[in-house]
Amino acid sequence: MDKKVCVAIIGCGRIATNGHFPALSNLSDMVRIKYACDIIESKAQDKKNQYSNLVENVITDYKVALQDEEVEAVFVLTPNYAHYTISMDALKAGKHVFCEKPITVNYKLSCEMAEEAKKQGKILNIGVVNRYNKSVELLESMNKDGVFGNIYHVYCSFRSYRCIPGLGGAFTNKAESGGGVLIDWGVHFLDLILYILGGAKLKTVTCDAYSEMAKDMKSYKYLGMWAEETKNLDGVNDVDDFISGHIRTDKASISFNGAWAQNIGQDEMFIDFLGDKAGARLTYGGHFTLWSTSKEGELQTVTYNYNIPNQMECEDRAFLTAVRTGEKTKTHIDNILESAKLLDALYESSEKKEEIRF
Ligand SMILES: NC(=O)c1ccc[n+]([C@@H]2O[C@H](COP(=O)([O-])OP(=O)(O)OC[C@H]3O[C@@H](n4cnc5c(N)ncnc54)[C@H](O)[C@@H]3O)[C@@H](O)[C@H]2O)c1
Repeated sequence: MDKKVCVAIIGCGRIATNGHFPALSNLSDMVRIKYACDIIESKAQDKKNQYSNLVENVITDYKVALQDEEVEAVFVLTPNYAHYTISMDALKAGKHVFCEKPITVNYKLSCEMAEEAKKQGKILNIGVVNRYNKSVELLESMNKDGVFGNIYHVYCSFRSYRCIPGLGGAFTNKAESGGGVLIDWGVHFLDLILYILGGAKLKTVTCDAYSEMAKDMKSYKYLGMWAEETKNLDGVNDVDDFISGHIRTDKASISFNGAWAQNIGQDEMFIDFLGDKAGARLTYGGHFTLWSTSKEGELQTVTYNYNIPNQMECEDRAFLTAVRTGEKTKTHIDNILESAKLLDALYESSEKKEEIRF
């Protein structure tokens, strides 16, 4: 068997461009990209032009790659609605799959994907990339080592000012995305919290979702955003642009607020872990600060010095390694289903306006 894993990249949009292609080009001793695939041919062609030493062919139909016996694995980097179909087709064709987050648009289909991976005996990893963030890894092991004592509550805020992505396109159409800011940003925050807590079991959730800021899509003012080229102001916007919830687990309780857009002129992206021995604030994607109380009752700040390696490179390296070893890594779908179950329950609570019990 060739040392390099032969792959196809399906979907050559933003996350492919800004994340996976740069990461994989740094892992060129581990990977061979036989196909760059996008339904918009020019996007795949751009990748071949940019990574001419790495990308061998350009295709617009992913089934061409699935029929190629040399291809061992695919990266599914398409909008959420296409994750399920492409991943299922790929697994059935005997390919290992890396699928971007969220797994898919709901928990039921996520479970079917996990079942199919098991049936085919193939790796199916999900792009909850923060599990490979150095700060998250440190906090997880510090919690295991008892540094925080008992973490009784976690609060997080993922709130931005004005950036509803691609208004009226795939991001804001629930049938295509599965939801708004909760499934798009919240998935990262809540997944990493469950991970750091060490496999917390869900007990109850309550949640309220709002779609207030772009009720009139045509008069909505974008102030810094992504996916603008996919917007369709004659399309649908039926997803949450603000979300607030409370989760009880057998470990800590968790509360959160998230906004793609709000009339508060500041962004907030952090997670607070409140323990009886120590507490920490993690700046999303960055470093954390740890506080504890001295014997004299004074608050002490502990600063850790460490580098944060490129988390997507760590994630892709782990996937390519797992393809060779068969190892179930921390982002294998079986380890992410609890997060998908949580997202579903939060949306259900908001729709029914009642608490959901597990
Ligand atoms: N891990 C992260 O932090 C992170 C960040 C951003 C996006 N994402 C996820 O990545 C996915 C893609 O997001 P994006 O922002 O790159 O979107 P995008 O719209 O920029 O890119 C998606 C690409 O997929 C292509 N595509 C759609 N259907 C296809 C098909 N059947 N075959 C081949 N190509 C197809 C589109 O033409 C487009 O170029 C989403 O699920 C999103 O949630 C993850």
